[in-house]
Amino acid sequence: MIKYMIQGGTPLKGSVNISGAKNAAVAILPATLLVDGVCHLDNVPDISDVRLLLNILSDMGAKIRRLSPNSLEIDCTRVRNIIAPIELVRRFRASYYLIGAELGRFGSAKVALPGGCNFSDRPIDQHLKAFRAMGAEVELQNGYVIANGHLTGGHIFPDMVSVGATINTVIAAALAEGTTIIENCAKEPHVVDLANFLNSMGARISGAGTDTIKVRGVRSLHGGSYTIIPDQIEAGTYMAAAAATGGDVVIRNIIPRHLECITAKLREMGVKITEFDDSLRVQRTVPLRPTKVKTLPYPGFPTDMQPLLCVCMALAKGGSLITEGIYDTRFRYTAELNRMGANIQVDTKIAVINGVDTLHGCSVKAFDLRAGAAMVVAGLVAGDTTVVEDVHYVERGYEDIVGKLQGLGATIKRIETPDGQKVQHVG
Ligand code: EPU
Repeated sequence: MIKYMIQGGTPLKGSVNISGAKNAAVAILPATLLVDGVCHLDNVPDISDVRLLLNILSDMGAKIRRLSPNSLEIDCTRVRNIIAPIELVRRFRASYYLIGAELGRFGSAKVALPGGCNFSDRPIDQHLKAFRAMGAEVELQNGYVIANGHLTGGHIFPDMVSVGATINTVIAAALAEGTTIIENCAKEPHVVDLANFLNSMGARISGAGTDTIKVRGVRSLHGGSYTIIPDQIEAGTYMAAAAATGGDVVIRNIIPRHLECITAKLREMGVKITEFDDSLRVQRTVPLRPTKVKTLPYPGFPTDMQPLLCVCMALAKGGSLITEGIYDTRFRYTAELNRMGANIQVDTKIAVINGVDTLHGCSVKAFDLRAGAAMVVAGLVAGDTTVVEDVHYVERGYEDIVGKLQGLGATIKRIETPDGQKVQHVG
């Protein structure tokens, strides 16, 4: 058990460096399975999802050399084992990218159905539909996805915009015979990053970041170097924390364009945001104004920022509204915020938030990664002590959140019980 103890009530001040994007890293690492040669990766976030993935790849036979906390070399040339260890795969969501990568490389995959943040029913039918459209036979057996077949290009029409299905299809198609066209694609920055990574290793992918991606299959990919983009949601989290605490924070090592939807929403709420080439200054000196938001695929407002914006709305002068447009449910965390004095009512996909003057500390749980981050931000606002439990969820996606917040003047302590879950390290 890991928990954070936070003594809130102090506006955050200073600057914070944003790490590499989790959702790009967890796609790029499985995609290294396609590469014949050594991939040198920089700006890899040191988070538990990445460490799990490295353990899985290493168990499958990949040679991994850590050059620094955020740089590593990975060589999957000699990987022969397609069975990823079930106990590791089931612990995180993005293990589904191993299916596309194994199918693409070996024409065969056996991967346990993914685990991770289950704040909603999260099927992977669109991933499997795409693999079938490319000629694979796919079955579900005893909790495993078993897929086999020589992949050939296809024209794929997903039923909804899915980040995971878009990325997985691109991964599978990179070495397929012929051309694959994927319609209705997700346009998130990490989709583009994955395509850029594969292209830098010799793939021929065009259109990433638009509705239609074309992948011309190549015979092999070669090694090379690649730097992962900064994490949009980690940056947004510190923006929300600065706004909620009435702080003044410079968010460094970011791509401001990826944050525009978040910047626009916080500006509507009265937050002053100044943009520079690769940083933003976030200042809040006036009370937060209420607003409305609907979460949408990129470039819309990201669902992953929804719990964090909700903390800001909980402190605004008046009533705000959130409509969750991606998942069936993602509001379980609001009960925890209400325990801290927020006034939020939820009806399935809609939350009505009546602003309160402040929040008070108590013991709350992190139900998932972003819900946990929202509890941390709420704890930074509350004038007394907040204990956030189950923060192993938070550490799935935030590198050194405690150290970064301490650097901004927060009083926050990480407490790990002796027999608790130890974070795993890959050498
Ligand atoms: N969906 C299906 N079938 C599928 C795939 C998706 O019905 O085969 C539905 C989902 O249930 C959801 C919607 O389509 O209602 C969109 O889901 P999507 O596939 O885009 O989500 P994902 O790929 O599983 C990624 C991120 C999530 C983020 C979503 C939406 C990764 C590893 N995860 O999930 O990130 O919420 O996109 O942007 O990239 C997080 O980082 O905290 C996180 C949950």
